[in-house]
Amino acid sequence: MAVWNLGSINIDHFYRLPHLPAPGETLAATEYRQGLGGKGANQSVAAARAGATVHHIGAVGEADEAVIHRLEAEGIDTAPIARLSGTTGHAIINIDASGENSIVIHAGANRALPRDWVTDALDQAQAGDILLIQNETSHQAYAAELARARGLRVIYSAAPFSVDAVREVLPHIHILCVNAIEEQQLLAALGKVEGPDLIVTRGGDGAEWRGMAKVPAFAVDAVDTTGAGDCFTGNIAAALDAGFSPTDAMRRASAAAAIQVTRHGTADAMPDAAEIEDFLYRHP
Ligand code: RIB
Ligand code: NA
Repeated sequence: MAVWNLGSINIDHFYRLPHLPAPGETLAATEYRQGLGGKGANQSVAAARAGATVHHIGAVGEADEAVIHRLEAEGIDTAPIARLSGTTGHAIINIDASGENSIVIHAGANRALPRDWVTDALDQAQAGDILLIQNETSHQAYAAELARARGLRVIYSAAPFSVDAVREVLPHIHILCVNAIEEQQLLAALGKVEGPDLIVTRGGDGAEWRGMAKVPAFAVDAVDTTGAGDCFTGNIAAALDAGFSPTDAMRRASAAAAIQVTRHGTADAMPDAAEIEDFLYRHP
């Protein structure tokens, strides 16, 4: 089986700061780094390192071939990634002394992918495969509807949160993943969620697959939580694709996210299957 991910690809620029900037403030960063990011690419890297076969559907600016090589180096199929004129998506990630972050994104190529690329990619997918989507690209609802009709299982991470995007995809998805803040936004907008299964991650309070599984959080010293949600979702997809039960998938995803927050970076910080298994062995 395989994971198909219609997902954003960003170049992340990280600035380590004494505090998050206030309006009008000029602030000197104590550290700068660059890395692969984008919620979609982060999820693809997380799933690939966890052992899944991953096909990434997306777009980059034609001048950024290196980004495609970076994904290929993770063993990800990049054939469904379009090279478009214009810029690759990017993110400015500010991280304060406590590891808290704030992120500015520019979609660039992520929102310019022609819909045909989605159709052509999903033509290769098999019933039983998984489709992952989130809110940093275009065509999510189209992809979800097409994939579901073909017998794929559709997992949707409602990030960055948008009520309109959720409303559009809701009839076509099997699993909806949100964090605690997004859950509040979701309930405020829709009253309740009917249809898909709901997975909620609550940081230090653990994670819940409603009606199926509840797992506590692992206590770790976090240095950078950026990309932890993507790590969790990518690992849910990989674990379900590998045939793990909901409870085991939740445990693996929680362990993966616990490792990810102890490292700097987004995609670069994703653990592999051996690290996840070792972590679970040491935290029974
Ligand atoms: O979830 C973290 C990601 O959000 C970053 O990698 C950044 O690119 C933004 O998409
Ligand atoms: Na991290």
